[in-house]
Amino acid sequence: MKITKICCIGAGYVGGPTMAVIAQKCPHIQVTVVDLNEERIAAWNDANTDNIPIYEPGLDKIVGEARGRNLFFSTEVDKAIDEAQIIFISVNTPTKTYGKGKGMAADLKYIELCARQIARVAKDNKIVVEKSTLPVRTAEAIKSILDHTGNGVQFQILSNPEFLAEGTAVQDLLNPDRILIGGDPSEEGQKAIQALVDVYSNWVAPAKILTTNVWSSELSKLTANAFLAQRISSINAMSELCEKTGADVNEVAKAIGMDSRIGSKFLKASVGFGGSCFQKDILNLVYIAKSYGLNEVADYWEQVIIMNDHQKRRFSNTIIQTLYNTVSDKKITFLGWAFKKDTNDTRESAAIYVADDLINEHAKIAVYDPKVSRKKVLADLDYLATRAASTNAASIMSFDTPYEACENAHAIAILTEWDEFVQYDWQKIYDSMQKPAFVFDGRNILDGPVLEAIGFVYQGIGS
Ligand code: NAD
Ligand code: UDX
Repeated sequence: MKITKICCIGAGYVGGPTMAVIAQKCPHIQVTVVDLNEERIAAWNDANTDNIPIYEPGLDKIVGEARGRNLFFSTEVDKAIDEAQIIFISVNTPTKTYGKGKGMAADLKYIELCARQIARVAKDNKIVVEKSTLPVRTAEAIKSILDHTGNGVQFQILSNPEFLAEGTAVQDLLNPDRILIGGDPSEEGQKAIQALVDVYSNWVAPAKILTTNVWSSELSKLTANAFLAQRISSINAMSELCEKTGADVNEVAKAIGMDSRIGSKFLKASVGFGGSCFQKDILNLVYIAKSYGLNEVADYWEQVIIMNDHQKRRFSNTIIQTLYNTVSDKKITFLGWAFKKDTNDTRESAAIYVADDLINEHAKIAVYDPKVSRKKVLADLDYLATRAASTNAASIMSFDTPYEACENAHAIAILTEWDEFVQYDWQKIYDSMQKPAFVFDGRNILDGPVLEAIGFVYQGIGS
């Protein structure tokens, strides 16, 4: 089947960048990204590509090149579904906040709404692609909805999980480690797989395109995220032991990372992992394991989350204890609020939880993040529903420059590893702070001995 029109439902952190790259690499395919959120679509269509809703290095250029040529952003969901041969579903699948599986299972209501809308609108055969991260066997539910339209339209369902990481999304999409496509073993299923393989083959080498059955593909995505997060919790567990024993977690990470069986990536001790994926996907995995009665499997993976929560809480406790057991009315400056550098995404960022703990202790938090607004910071805290929004607003101070944010602070906490933090004039910052001037480096990005020579009391993670 020759693919000329693709539609993607969901113009978020995955749908937007993924489709922009497909459009750039496949000028012969018309790619339409649709979303119910009018404000988000308007931002994707903003004439000034600096204003697109997602900050990712290099994305503005790709959107600028393809938009209006073969890349379109629209709120007309029905029209895009009707016209496309391949429909990607890339909507959010957050942790359920109600009912059965609350706090654990993935909420599939948006996925089901998409399936029902496709079933209602489609007049000719379609390939439906699960791009969202989904519990294993979700394709079965989607298929059941699509196969009951009674209008004779044939659907093939593929699983094609996305492995991009935020902050490096464009590079990850241009040079993926692999593309995973799961489909039905039937002849029609194999044809659908081939149609999607042909799209990716426009820029990805054949050896990197892996095809499997649908369930392996769905489960591989949860497994990959669980393994990645597990490495961070493992090194973070060691960071606490390092602090007690005089070992240095950076040295330990380097030493073990040189073992080619372990590898050096994803061994950076930190204030704890954040982001919209790791916690949600592991909780989902735990829920699935429990639903099959696999309690040991569930407990094993749940420990990754328990360790991560501990690491975040440990960081705020260290700040409180070091500041003589009281942070009440003290100005504590957060450098960084995003869950990692080079993104404006703050979902599940460790900064939110550390701030929440410190506000409980009546601290005043000054936040500076190059890509995150005060409005977003307050929305993140209000979402936790720990206290009145007015108290959050009174507890958070915002500044236009990092130097103002640090002025008169009792302590600085590094929550995100933005490169620019390393370049700051730390002598100038020291001169403007209360003394003793404390730095808690939740990302181990600053040079401890250099800061100590200036006069700071410096504390990193795991040393
Ligand atoms: P997101 O919240 O940024 O975007 C989802 C979009 O879908 C929203 O704009 C929302 O308005 C839209 N939407 C929801 N229901 C809709 C409907 N019925 N019709 C039209 N639009 C609808 O989410 P995201 O970060 O892009 O994640 C999407 C999926 O991809 C999730 O399953 C996630 O787990 C997975 N994923 C995310 C990442 C990541 O780095 N963020 C990486 C890999 C996989
Ligand atoms: C992750 C997966 O990496 C990606 O493959 C998947 O598609 C989506 O989920 P993302 O959450 O965007 O991507 O970023 P990632 O680079 O994985 O970082 C997640 C969190 O872990 C961040 O808070 C990051 O700071 C933290 N982290 C990462 C560490 O603390 N130490 C590390 O060594 C690596």
